[in-house]
Amino acid sequence: MATADARGRTLAVFGPGKVGEAIGRLALAAGWDVLYVGSPRHTSLQPFLDVSVPGSVAVGHEDAARRADVIVLAVPYGAARTLPWHLFADRLVVDAMNRWPPVDWSRTPLPERSTSEEHALLNPRMRLAKTLNHLGFGDLEDDSLPAGDPLRRTLAFATDHDRDRATLIGLLDDLGFDALDLGPLAEGRWLEPGFAGFGRDLDAAGFRAAIAKSRSLYGNG
Ligand SMILES: NC(=O)c1ccc[n+]([C@@H]2O[C@H](COP(=O)([O-])OP(=O)(O)OC[C@H]3O[C@@H](n4cnc5c(N)ncnc54)[C@H](OP(=O)(O)O)[C@@H]3O)[C@@H](O)[C@H]2O)c1
Repeated sequence: MATADARGRTLAVFGPGKVGEAIGRLALAAGWDVLYVGSPRHTSLQPFLDVSVPGSVAVGHEDAARRADVIVLAVPYGAARTLPWHLFADRLVVDAMNRWPPVDWSRTPLPERSTSEEHALLNPRMRLAKTLNHLGFGDLEDDSLPAGDPLRRTLAFATDHDRDRATLIGLLDDLGFDALDLGPLAEGRWLEPGFAGFGRDLDAAGFRAAIAKSRSLYGNG
């Protein structure tokens, strides 16, 4: 698990919900410090975290953005505009959000680009990556396995920022998954609901084959 200096040590999760909690518990188990930022409704977040993610710490927006090596955004897609994007300049930010039909479809206009490309425009100085969005929160914890285990699953990521690739691989490894680098952020579309990589238990070759087949049939989506 995490030892190398290239890996992050502090994870800040915006959105202490189902997937945000699962990510935090896995990160804590791997030795990361884990911070949470809640919604304005979370007026007493720390007692809740003491039960749901013991060892994690509730902090404010600025504190989280300043202290985190990696920021994870895990709020509903429809609430994304309520996040403090201006604080994320020069930070590595993981977009774990999905446009999820039962929750978001009727309330938000369909983006022209992938959702993470849309989000990247909200702060061009931010280093946004797409991952942790294409596996259910229960599976994240159930299927987390040590490196080298033959049953270990693969999580894919996409980013435009080469300097973050090692950190993302280290984070996913620490959470219990092999990492597959899909390349530029635009490739994250394949990890979204309705696309070839979403919710599927594939190894790296399987992801690449599924995406290539989809691209040959439908172009870029
Ligand atoms: N559930 C999954 O298995 C899964 C897996 C992968 C990715 N995702 C994606 O991850 C995101 C979260 O899903 P979820 O199922 O974890 O949702 P959830 O259980 O509803 O949790 C979302 C949390 O975000 C909080 N929140 C809302 N606005 C916020 C803000 N501005 N700052 C900080 N926190 C805020 C919510 O608080 P309030 O309740 O007070 O609004 C809630 O605690 C979604 O985009 C989803 O598509 C989900």
